[in-house]
Amino acid sequence: MKPREEWKVEQGVFDKTTLSALYKLYAKHFDRLRFVIATGKEADVYLAEKGEGKVAIKLYRMVARAYKDIYKYINGDPRFDHVRNRPRDVIFAWAKKEYKNLERASKVGVRVPKPIAVEKNALVMEFIGENDIPAPTANKLPPKNPIAWRREVYKWVRNLWNKANLVHGDLNKFNLINYNEKPVLIDISQAVLKEHPLSMKLLERDVRIISNWFNKLGVDDKSLIKWYERVKNES
Ligand SMILES: Nc1ncnc2c1ncn2[C@@H]1O[C@H](COP(=O)(O)OP(=O)(O)OP(=O)(O)O)[C@@H](O)[C@H]1O
Ligand SMILES: [Mg+2]
Repeated sequence: MKPREEWKVEQGVFDKTTLSALYKLYAKHFDRLRFVIATGKEADVYLAEKGEGKVAIKLYRMVARAYKDIYKYINGDPRFDHVRNRPRDVIFAWAKKEYKNLERASKVGVRVPKPIAVEKNALVMEFIGENDIPAPTANKLPPKNPIAWRREVYKWVRNLWNKANLVHGDLNKFNLINYNEKPVLIDISQAVLKEHPLSMKLLERDVRIISNWFNKLGVDDKSLIKWYERVKNES
C-alpha cells in the first residue's frame, strides 16, 4: 500500500498545541511525518520516520468533548493526583498515562509498542508494521492460531493485574494488533491501577469481552473467567 497523496500531512491541520509538541519531538525522535495510520475517537496515529527507522506518533485531539469522558480514569489515580480538572491538563495527563502504562505493561512481559517519548498531547512509540504498512488489528485479521493467542492474552491480563497492578480497561479485538500472527496490545491510556474505584468493573468487562471473542473463535476455556471469580472473591 503506497501512502495516498491526500494522506500527506499538511502543517495547517494541526492546532497550536500539537504543533509545539511536534516541534519539541522533532529531530530527536522523528525527522519526517508521513501519513495518518488511523483516526480514532480520541486520537490520530501517524507514521513518522527517524532516519531509516519508523515510529508511530499518537496525537490526542485537543477538543473539550473528550476530556469529560477521560477525567474519571485519571481522577483516583495517585500517579495523577496533581492534575487539574481542565481540558488541557487532562489531555496532557492522558497522553502521559498511556506512556506510563506502556512502560508498566512492557516490564511485566506484555507485548506492547515500546514507548519512546511523550510531550504534551503527543506520544511517540514503536511502529508496529512492516515497511510503511501498519500491521492490521485482530478484528481485520483474526489469528490463525487462536489457542496460542488465548494463552498469551490471558497471561497478559493476569500479569497486568498481579504484577503491574493494572487493568487495561478496553481489551478487545480492536486493541490487539496482529503482527505477523503475534498479538500486540495497544491503546492503554484508560488503564487504571488496582486501587482505582473503577478497577474491578473494568477487569470484569475486559475478561468478559475477551473471553467472548475467544469463544467466537472457538477456543475459550473459561480459565480467565474462573481466575476473575477468584480475584473478585479475594478482594
Ligand atoms: N504503535 C502502533 N503501530 C502501528 N499502528 C498503530 C500503533 N498504535 C496504534 N495503531 C493503529 O492506530 C489505531 C488507533 O490507535 P488507538 O486504538 O491507540 O487509538 P484510539 O484513538 O484509542 O482509537 P480508537 O478510538 O479507535 O480505539 C489502531 O487501531 C491501530 O490500527
Ligand atoms: Mg483503540
